[in-house]
Amino acid sequence: MEKGEQIKQIAGMKGCPRCYQTEQEVKAAALAGGPRSTIPAPNLRKSFSLSGKVKSARLCITALGLYECSINGKQVSDDVFAPGWTDYHKRVQYKVYDVTNLLRAGENTLGAILGDGWAVGHIGWGHRQQYVDRPRLLAQLEVTLADGSTQTIVSDLTWKYQFGPLLESDFMMGEAYDARLEMPGWDAPSFDDKRWSLVEVLSDLGMALVATNGPSVRRIDELKPSCDPVDKGSFNRKRYIFDLGQNMVGRVRFKGSAPAGTTITLHFAEVLNPDGTLYTANLRAARATDSYTFKGDEEEIWEPKFTFHGFRYVELEGYPGEVTHDTITGVVLHSEMSPTGAFECSEAIINQLQRNIVWGQKGNFVDVPTDCPQRDERLGWTGDIQVFVRTAAFNMEVAGFMTKWAQDVADSQNEQGSVPPVVPKMQTPFMDDGGPAWADAAVICPWTIYLCYGDKRILANNYLTMSKFMEFVIKASPGYIRCAPDYKGWLGFGDWLSINADTPRDLIGTAFLAYDASLMAQIAAVLGKTREAIKYRKLFEDVKAAFGARFLKGSKLSRNAAQLSELRCIAEHGDALSRGNLKVVDYGQIPSEVFNTSLFTPTQTAYVLALHFDLLPEKLRPLAVAELVADIERRHLHLSTGFVGSPYLPHVLSNNGRLDMAYTLLHQKTWPSWLYSVTRGATTIWERWDGWTEENGFQTPEMNSFNHYVYGAVGAWLYNTVAGIEIDPTQPGYKHIILRPQPGGGLTHACGKLKTLYGEVVSQWKIENGAFDWEVVVPPNNSATLHIPLNGSRKITMNGQSVSGSVHEVEAGKYRFVAT
Ligand code: BGC
Repeated sequence: MEKGEQIKQIAGMKGCPRCYQTEQEVKAAALAGGPRSTIPAPNLRKSFSLSGKVKSARLCITALGLYECSINGKQVSDDVFAPGWTDYHKRVQYKVYDVTNLLRAGENTLGAILGDGWAVGHIGWGHRQQYVDRPRLLAQLEVTLADGSTQTIVSDLTWKYQFGPLLESDFMMGEAYDARLEMPGWDAPSFDDKRWSLVEVLSDLGMALVATNGPSVRRIDELKPSCDPVDKGSFNRKRYIFDLGQNMVGRVRFKGSAPAGTTITLHFAEVLNPDGTLYTANLRAARATDSYTFKGDEEEIWEPKFTFHGFRYVELEGYPGEVTHDTITGVVLHSEMSPTGAFECSEAIINQLQRNIVWGQKGNFVDVPTDCPQRDERLGWTGDIQVFVRTAAFNMEVAGFMTKWAQDVADSQNEQGSVPPVVPKMQTPFMDDGGPAWADAAVICPWTIYLCYGDKRILANNYLTMSKFMEFVIKASPGYIRCAPDYKGWLGFGDWLSINADTPRDLIGTAFLAYDASLMAQIAAVLGKTREAIKYRKLFEDVKAAFGARFLKGSKLSRNAAQLSELRCIAEHGDALSRGNLKVVDYGQIPSEVFNTSLFTPTQTAYVLALHFDLLPEKLRPLAVAELVADIERRHLHLSTGFVGSPYLPHVLSNNGRLDMAYTLLHQKTWPSWLYSVTRGATTIWERWDGWTEENGFQTPEMNSFNHYVYGAVGAWLYNTVAGIEIDPTQPGYKHIILRPQPGGGLTHACGKLKTLYGEVVSQWKIENGAFDWEVVVPPNNSATLHIPLNGSRKITMNGQSVSGSVHEVEAGKYRFVAT
């Protein structure tokens, strides 16, 4: 479907035959609603005749708003929320469906219902109509008849429309449906549409029409209530609360019967108040309410079309009938991504954490990667996905999803090269620059997807966007210090939601600039851009030097030899600490210099970034590890990291000789910790470490999502360290696999499985009677380096034969190592 073809027209609606307003008033309000008021969803139809048997037919279709399309009463596809969310001012995706089997010789009817969706409905905390004021449809049906002749039906002035039973549809507000207004047969031939109005052809808005380049949102799963509904009714109002047992994203299908005109209302919540009522304060302005008015049939089944909610609990209000487990069914929606990974270990609570991570991913991969699915936000926060993308690629196949979003990033970039904090970018005034750890998603996400799937195209196609972004950041970072206090631009969100640990923004900014530079050097090298690779490598070194000069307190000492030796002494103490000689810190035993000469503002995130991004002189790394561990210990074995530091924290510990501390943090059950929410019965990852605590109850409703995937980024560590499945960056996409499980924390077994593009990788270990027993599967045409996590002095067998050494290169196959 090329722009400029005959189907340029966009069919909208005209006049409302059901109300008594003048046509002008209808046009001004009823057809479009207002920034805060919705209008019913229009049904559009077009009847046409085919002169012979159909050989083939394809329908190219898109909309501003959402469409659900049918031919002769049969739905064309089970896509939900098509055409997906893009920056509609720049591009709109279309879909092509093979509809050969839905057509016949003679009379046919094409029907479409248009919902508000992202193009017209409320977005984030903003108002409606951020892209356009009303939904628009664009369709072209191309039919080839058996005799070879062709017929084309397009969305033109001959279409008709009528408002139907869908009175309101909005992602944030919910959906209202009056079944009494149904128009049976409206999308089939021989329906009397005399009272329907002719549509209006609206102007070409000039955006690019592009083929859909990512998975569609679909109905993926169904959930039944996990227990009997709880009666919360009062003398004059019936009210039941259903528990689906899982914080999920989607909507419910309702089944029941009631006299015509009876209206039921469905409210949604992720958690309950202590008195068992729905806790909805955290939804902010999202009304998240659906309603259905019965037509009076024996049994009526209804599921909304154009809305979704984030919820575990459903309150059904006003239903006069008997409620059963069958009254409502949770319909789970997300972008279609096949599950690829599985992680499981000997501790049930960690397995529940893994399940929560997966559910967080399902609920927030709804066409774009969102921060949360329930409140008036649901935006593509760049920082959030940057943090989570690695874990996401273990759990599910996300290459297509992230490839589409990378284009959204490019569309959102401004002239100067900055990348906003949310993508697709907000249409209401908002920041152009996401700042450190948010905007950097422009580099980090494509690189991660390349590593996980080995396809260079995501790097090649986004190289320009990344380089422009780098230019912007370098320009905004005099002396390679990004977000210095005197910088006039956005200083960033800091280590968002950290706990009593404020990491300086210039430290975070500069660390991420260095990280970007190191990734760009690798990206340029992969693309064969040698000079660019050298340029970025040098940039990394320059930023690293600037980082050291500005943030390392030690660097001030380095001018004088005596102080240098003092520093060396500290580093040695650090060595001692990092070797684990002082595991539980008795502060009296630690040389006071270690604390007095902390490397920098001593937050865990500062250490984590410096270590993970390789920003420290080699000699100081042990000291940094020691100080990081000391901070954890000072906090009674708790982390204090927010969005920025948390994802790297366990990797930094296990990669720097403190696997024990990484496991200690993993096992921590009081907050802040990964398992705290699990002990509170969470079934998804919370936005905040302290979303609810015994001491303070619910955190501020202003920002308290119970389904935010960010802290689920620990999932990557479960796969690549506990189970030990890791990528070799020189042969990405698991062409060559590094298998290096690191048992610890009292776990007696763990198993990681990952369906790569080559086949399934398995790394499964158990510890039984003191023996380490490890089974490995390396898929066909691949190879792996296996690291047996025991020192060489033990007796090791491979497939029953004695072997020596703890590192082995193997080809595809199944292997079993036993170390006794
Ligand atoms: C979102 C976050 C996001 C943050 C920026 C919040 O409102 O929910 O996940 O990254 O703002 O700090």
